[in-house]
Amino acid sequence: MSREFDDDLHTLTLSEDGSYTAYSKEYEEHYHSTRDGALFESMKKHIIPAFNVIAKDEVNILDICYGLGFNTLATLLYVDEHSPNKKINIYSPELDGNLIKSLVHFTYPKEFEKYREIIIALSEEGVYERENLYIEVFTGDAREYIKKFKNKFDIVYQDAFSPSTNSILWTKEYFADIKNAMRDEGVLTTYSIAFKIRLALYENGFHLYLNEGDGYRVATLASCNKLEQYKEVDMEHKISCNPYINSLKDKEI
Ligand SMILES: C[S@@+](CC[C@H](N)C(=O)[O-])C[C@H]1O[C@@H](n2cnc3c(N)ncnc32)[C@H](O)[C@@H]1O
Repeated sequence: MSREFDDDLHTLTLSEDGSYTAYSKEYEEHYHSTRDGALFESMKKHIIPAFNVIAKDEVNILDICYGLGFNTLATLLYVDEHSPNKKINIYSPELDGNLIKSLVHFTYPKEFEKYREIIIALSEEGVYERENLYIEVFTGDAREYIKKFKNKFDIVYQDAFSPSTNSILWTKEYFADIKNAMRDEGVLTTYSIAFKIRLALYENGFHLYLNEGDGYRVATLASCNKLEQYKEVDMEHKISCNPYINSLKDKEI
């Protein structure tokens, strides 16, 4: 464990699966569910369901937001194990430049040890490239960053801090830009099951699905195409039961 990572805003925290995450004093939240476990949560709520849906030889991924980089690194782990010849392109915005620089001191799970060179390159240069792999960590605002892409992403990991803490990354207008950046057959994964957030996705034309399994709290998948392998959330029924709840909008923030 490296305490060199700790600073005024971030503290290393052990999570249930034995992997470390961090606590943000600025957002007053952990970067991952400490109960589900950082690596376990990343795999179960994002990487596995996304690759269950997307089976292409070249996959473009938007990782919102880089944070400690678990979703990016767990993607490499999953692809190395299941389909090492796939070409993976990951684009990940992150507002906190100091955090990115401090990640060379972060205590990652042993499964990520083989990605040490990548962790250092992303922390120091913000980019890593080799055959079949391109990763870009953009230091700046995700809202601005996503506007430059159109019909590009097959997968979006929607893993911002919670809607109450970081509302700007959960509004109807934000998801309109996300949809614009995604391919029609793309999939979005998120831990949030909040009705206001599902509504913000639904009003942009996404279908909502349950991501359920052993050992983790239920999560959400969203896609503009129908997903046969997941149970769809009956949004029309939920809307009729909650007629006074609205999707989150930019103007409320
Ligand atoms: C829950 S953490 C992401 C965890 C990450 N997926 C991981 O696996 O470690 C949310 C991240 O969003 C970043 N963030 C907050 N607002 C942002 C914005 N407007 N643009 C880009 N990044 C933002 C925070 O600095 C934080 O690192």
